[in-house]
Amino acid sequence: MIRAIQVKEFGGPEVLKWVEIDLGEPGPGEARIVHKAVGLNFIDTYRRSGLYPIDLPSGLGTEASGIVTSVGPDVHHVAPGDRVAYAMGPQGSYSEERIMPAKWLVKLPEDINDEIAASMMLKGLTSWYLLRQTYSVQPGEWILLYAAAGGVGLIAAQWARKLGAHVIGVVSTEEKRQLALNHGCETVLLATDDIVTKVRNLTGGEGVPVVYDPVGKDTLITSLDCLRPRGLLVSFGNASGPVEGLNLLELAKRDSLYVTRPGLWTYVKNREDLEAGCADLFKQVLGGHIDIKIGQRFDLCDAADAHRALTSRRTIGSSVLLP
Ligand SMILES: NC(=O)c1ccc[n+]([C@@H]2O[C@H](COP(=O)([O-])OP(=O)(O)OC[C@H]3O[C@@H](n4cnc5c(N)ncnc54)[C@H](OP(=O)(O)O)[C@@H]3O)[C@@H](O)[C@H]2O)c1
Repeated sequence: MIRAIQVKEFGGPEVLKWVEIDLGEPGPGEARIVHKAVGLNFIDTYRRSGLYPIDLPSGLGTEASGIVTSVGPDVHHVAPGDRVAYAMGPQGSYSEERIMPAKWLVKLPEDINDEIAASMMLKGLTSWYLLRQTYSVQPGEWILLYAAAGGVGLIAAQWARKLGAHVIGVVSTEEKRQLALNHGCETVLLATDDIVTKVRNLTGGEGVPVVYDPVGKDTLITSLDCLRPRGLLVSFGNASGPVEGLNLLELAKRDSLYVTRPGLWTYVKNREDLEAGCADLFKQVLGGHIDIKIGQRFDLCDAADAHRALTSRRTIGSSVLLP
């Protein structure tokens, strides 16, 4: 028997239950892993609440690092004893051990430790596709990034700076402001500032070519107002609630804007995507261009407290859950 977090009904953090599970042995294409560290992600809160429905009862979480302990038939790229991490696949990373499709497992370089790996896989691959594919950030461009001191935010800001961009971050507190300035942002605004005016001033009145907005409902109109003609809003999260009912005329009257609502699963569909993203991500981290900041550690059995901290904006950088 192993212990894991289970969700039997959608709701607040209190629905996260610490239970015993009988795991069994891996089947074809599967591997069994003992987790060393588990990544906490905002998307886990959407799945727990039912905003992104999952079949119940269910495990939770899709990011962790650990060691392969056994593999089923037809698994060739990992073997027992390998240090691995993942950011994709079925729910269930909030567990001491699990069985999952081996195709999502990536072997870890020696110099990336277990906690760092669990802090960077999902957030790092997200930063990779947002900055390199959804919109290809160019040297010299000003870009706007909300939640710049968060898990994705600190990684994306450093990566964008490495690409040569000038990153304008937005955060909610002075402490987060300092952190974002030390991790890739050239300038950092507070959420209470007149963001549109400040962004216009920084960009000679023009606006930015791209806004990366994981906040959602509360920031939609401000984000559109910060864009230059034909600029792109990348609305990639719902931290304040989902965006609903955008009138497309709002795009026309602000000079032919674009909006996309991307998801990691579209950009990492298969092994080839995963390997390309991880190769780039590992290169940035091992090359010292991206410092992975672990702001909080929680015992895995206290995942409910971790969710409370994340949704009440009390976390900085990445958070890990320790089995
Ligand atoms: N589409 C994708 O593929 C994808 C993948 C990964 C993550 N995401 C999204 O990226 C965002 C960041 O994820 P993360 O796990 O790294 O979380 P995080 O950024 O560490 O935490 C979320 C941050 O959002 C900000 N925020 C603004 N308004 C908020 C509100 N009303 N309630 C709570 N937080 C608010 C807070 O920063 P301030 O206090 O500084 O405002 C908070 O720290 C999430 O929206 C997530 O859904 C999307």
